[in-house]
Amino acid sequence: MEKLIKRAAKDLSGSKNVVALTGAGISIESGIPPFRGKGGIWEKIDPMEFAHIDAFMRDPAKVWNVLIKEMKNITDTAKPNDAHKALAQLEKHGILKTVITQNVDGLHQMAGNTDVIEFHGNFAWQRCMDCNRKIKNDQVDISQIPPKCECGGILRPDCVFFGEPIPTDHLMRSQQASAECDIMLVIGTSAVVQPAALMPVIAKESNATVIEINLEKTPLTDQISDYILLGKSGEVMNRIMAQMERFD
Ligand code: OAD
Repeated sequence: MEKLIKRAAKDLSGSKNVVALTGAGISIESGIPPFRGKGGIWEKIDPMEFAHIDAFMRDPAKVWNVLIKEMKNITDTAKPNDAHKALAQLEKHGILKTVITQNVDGLHQMAGNTDVIEFHGNFAWQRCMDCNRKIKNDQVDISQIPPKCECGGILRPDCVFFGEPIPTDHLMRSQQASAECDIMLVIGTSAVVQPAALMPVIAKESNATVIEINLEKTPLTDQISDYILLGKSGEVMNRIMAQMERFD
């Protein structure tokens, strides 16, 4: 493992165009549960019943009461962890350009990254289904469920539900960043949800080095990734950053 940490530190030090693709695993050390696996949100609630746009349209109050309230409580209080902070440091040092995240928690921006593509939107904001106005969570009155906009329209999270397309500009920018980077760091994603999981494939096809950080192997590991650093993303990133100081 130490050899791989050194290799990652060296690879990153030599690049000015790193892109990070992140998933729920990077936010676990901030107290946010993952979607899949043990303790995952989809273990407790059926995504087709609570996270599909058809389910929301059928019964917004039901989805608000179960999924949105739970997610809102978690994301309202979570703080960036060492992995988020390391990515912000890499940007500050002119190494990392863009973060493509599947997370809806806003923690990358909170840590200081300025170019963050939120592939699945953001749970910190609600959007009126009638007038499209965006309202920050702390301004939303949830004494009545589903909460309503001033215009009377129902509020929904400004995120992508199952059954909805990724906003075209996010998808296009992500594809471009993936095709242009020379290293892609793939952190804490099970890499099973498309089209996000295609980004490392695009990077690889464009000759980038793909480095994974995860607790376990993913479908990318043997096919796409150059190497995987097995462990918790905060701990692994701290070890890489400590090695990088020696390359300064
Ligand atoms: P998942 O919950 O599918 O996967 C989390 C990944 O993080 C797994 O591969 C874990 O092994 C890994 N992991 C867990 N703890 C970790 C840690 N401390 N450090 C590093 N890795 C760790 O989450 P995503 O891949 O983000 O979409 O899921 C993708 C999408 O599926 C989500 O954006 C969401 C979901 O359905 C929508 O809601 C549209």
